[in-house]
Amino acid sequence: MVSFEYYNPVRVIFGCGESSRIGEIAHDFGKKALIVTYEQHAFLKHILERTEEILLNKDMVVFNCFNITANPMISQINTGIEICRQENIDVIIGIGGGSVMDASKAIGIGTFYSGDVWDMFMSRHDCIRDVKPQKSLPTIMIPTLPATSSEMNNIAVATNDSTCEKSYICHNIVYPDISIIDPEITCLLPKYQSACGAVDAISHLLEAYFNCVPDTPLQDRLQEGTILTIMELIPKILNDPYNKTLRANMQWASTISWNGWLQAGINPGSPMHQIGHVISARFGVTHGATLGIIMPSFFRYVLNHRVERFAQFGRRIFNLNGSDVDIAKKAIDMFESFIASVGVQTRLSQVGIIESDIKAIAEDVERVSCDEKGHLPSVPPVGKKDIENILRLAL
Ligand SMILES: [Fe+2]
Repeated sequence: MVSFEYYNPVRVIFGCGESSRIGEIAHDFGKKALIVTYEQHAFLKHILERTEEILLNKDMVVFNCFNITANPMISQINTGIEICRQENIDVIIGIGGGSVMDASKAIGIGTFYSGDVWDMFMSRHDCIRDVKPQKSLPTIMIPTLPATSSEMNNIAVATNDSTCEKSYICHNIVYPDISIIDPEITCLLPKYQSACGAVDAISHLLEAYFNCVPDTPLQDRLQEGTILTIMELIPKILNDPYNKTLRANMQWASTISWNGWLQAGINPGSPMHQIGHVISARFGVTHGATLGIIMPSFFRYVLNHRVERFAQFGRRIFNLNGSDVDIAKKAIDMFESFIASVGVQTRLSQVGIIESDIKAIAEDVERVSCDEKGHLPSVPPVGKKDIENILRLAL
């Protein structure tokens, strides 16, 4: 375990029906609210109408920024920033999944930055533009998709429309002020979104599990327990989507999968996300699906470097017995089968990506996310050639 500092100021309000408290909660921040949600928001019609009505009944003035797409674009974020500046917005309310919550965070910090908000997304990767957020408008999240943990973490991911780069910002100012997690809302989620969200949440745990420092038994057990819980829940949810108890357990599992608790003291990297981000940015593939595709291939590629770790995964998640090597290989096969069984892609060919696309994807990953030595922060570190090989395994 390594030294760490942990800070998470998000006030979480959890429970079925709790989103009806948005009026009293938002009113504490002022009179003018900006609701941020998707461009295609028909499936959220009820919650959006109800939220607006509750806010109006509290004598609040409501503005809308209904333009966010999956993999939110900087141009969409800039629209929200303009509204906040022109209308002197007091509080931002993000109603949606990770894309909406990340966009809401970016709007909050971008409102107080005179330059291009994209500078802050690239400052991790570009020492010339080391731009950190100084201030944010208050943000309230009402997550509608259990997946990213954005409702309780200090990360926001966005895509630059002009360059097709997808990058992230990680800073304590980005934490939401309040997250109202109402599992009842997620009962309306389509099956594919539910499954992709579950795969994304598992990927957050596995990024940490396989890309961390050694000798972290407590965090291992916490991660394994959360992975097992999600793997047990998601097939049940797909068969019984209106079951609020299943949805509630799923939503809390996804919230803690990347809110920092299970990553504390293990110094995790997120190499599979960095590869997946480029696939989303270039080909518009759903975030969870990119992880469903990358994870099995990444694991097969690095297997021999840390075989005992994969054997532990196989013993504890799939109850496998035998030699470390046999268990490790079988566990990865079983994990890929699990992803496929819930209807999420596990191969690049399933999303229309072919061999001739691989070089460009690897180059983008190197340009946006690799360190000065050309490596992603993983165990072992992987460079451009490795990324190409991982992608070939995923064809
Ligand atoms: Fe993710």
